[in-house]
Amino acid sequence: ITKVGIFTSGGDAPGMNACIRAAVRTALYAGKAVTGIYHGYQGMIDGNFWEMNSRSVSNIIQLGGTILKTARCDAFRTKEGRQLAYDNLKAAGIDGLIAIGGDGTFTGAEVFSREHDIPVVCVPGTIDNDLYGSDFTLGYDTATNTVIEAIDKIRDTAASHDRLFFVEVMGRDSGCIALNAGIAGGAEAILLPEKNTAIEELCKMLEGAAKGNKSSTIVIVAEGEANGGAYHVAKEVKARFNFYDTKVTILGHLQRGGSPSSFDRVLASRLGFAAVRHLFAGANRVMVGLWGNEIRTTPLEEALGNKAFKLSEDMLEMMDVLSI
Ligand code: F6P
Repeated sequence: ITKVGIFTSGGDAPGMNACIRAAVRTALYAGKAVTGIYHGYQGMIDGNFWEMNSRSVSNIIQLGGTILKTARCDAFRTKEGRQLAYDNLKAAGIDGLIAIGGDGTFTGAEVFSREHDIPVVCVPGTIDNDLYGSDFTLGYDTATNTVIEAIDKIRDTAASHDRLFFVEVMGRDSGCIALNAGIAGGAEAILLPEKNTAIEELCKMLEGAAKGNKSSTIVIVAEGEANGGAYHVAKEVKARFNFYDTKVTILGHLQRGGSPSSFDRVLASRLGFAAVRHLFAGANRVMVGLWGNEIRTTPLEEALGNKAFKLSEDMLEMMDVLSI
C-alpha cells in the first residue's frame, strides 16, 4: 500500500474526527500518503479528494461531526457507480481504504472490495452501538451522555409540574441508548425494540407509580416501528390512563452532535491506529473492534451476518426493579 484513502459514511458520530486523526497520522508515520475522501462513497464517485498531511488533522480530536463530511449514497448501490468510484481511486493512486461508519458502510465496503480487489478495513462508527464485532461503536458513549443530560433537565421540570414525560431517543433498531440512558437517568419505564412491552403493562406500571406518590415520571421510548414512536405511545397511554399531565420530547439529532467523551476519543484513536496497522499488514474486508479491553478484527461478512444483541440480561431485569 502506498496511498490510503480514508472516508466517513452514513450517520455521523462523535469520535469520527478523532479516528480520522489517528488513522491519518498512523499512515503518515509509516511513510505512506493519505487522501481524504469527502462525503463517503459519493465523494469516490465524484472524485472529491483531499491530499492530507499531519496538519490536516490538527485541532480536531475534540470536534463532533466529521471533517470529511458524510452521506448516504444510493449511486454506490449500482455496479456502474462502484466502477466510477474505482476508476477515480485508481487515477488518484489510492490502493487501500479505511472506512468509518455503520452497517450500510460495511456492506458497501464488502461488495466494493470483492468487485474491485481494493483492500478495505472498517471502523465501527455509529451512535446506535448496533454492530457485532465491537463491544462499543464510536459515538455511542457520547450520545448516551447527551441523552442523560437531557433526561436530567426534563426531570427538573417534570418534578416541578408533577408531569409524565415520554422521551424518544435514537438507536434505529437497537435499544442500547434507550436502556443505558434510561437506567442512568432513573427512568420509570423504558420501551425497547428488542422487548415487546404491551401498553396495558406500561399503564399498570404508571398506575403503580401514581399510587406510590411519584412526583415525576419519565418513560424512555426507543425510536422506530416497534413502539410506534413517543407520540403514539403517549396517545395510547392517555386513552387508558389519564392521571398525569403528559408531555412528549423527541431528542432527535442533538444526540448525534457534540464533543466526543474521553471514552470515545480514546476508542477512536485506538481503532484508527489499529485499522491502518491491519491494512498495512495485509488485512482486507475486516472491521476492527473492541473486545473487553483488546482490539480485534472480525471479517465483515461475519460482522454483517450476526445481529448484535447488546442488552445485558441483568439490566433488563433491573430496569423494572429500580423503578418502583
Ligand atoms: O444511525 C444513526 C442514526 O442517528 C439513527 O439512530 C437514526 O435512526 C438515523 O441515524 C437517522 O438518520 P438521518 O440522520 O439520516 O435522519
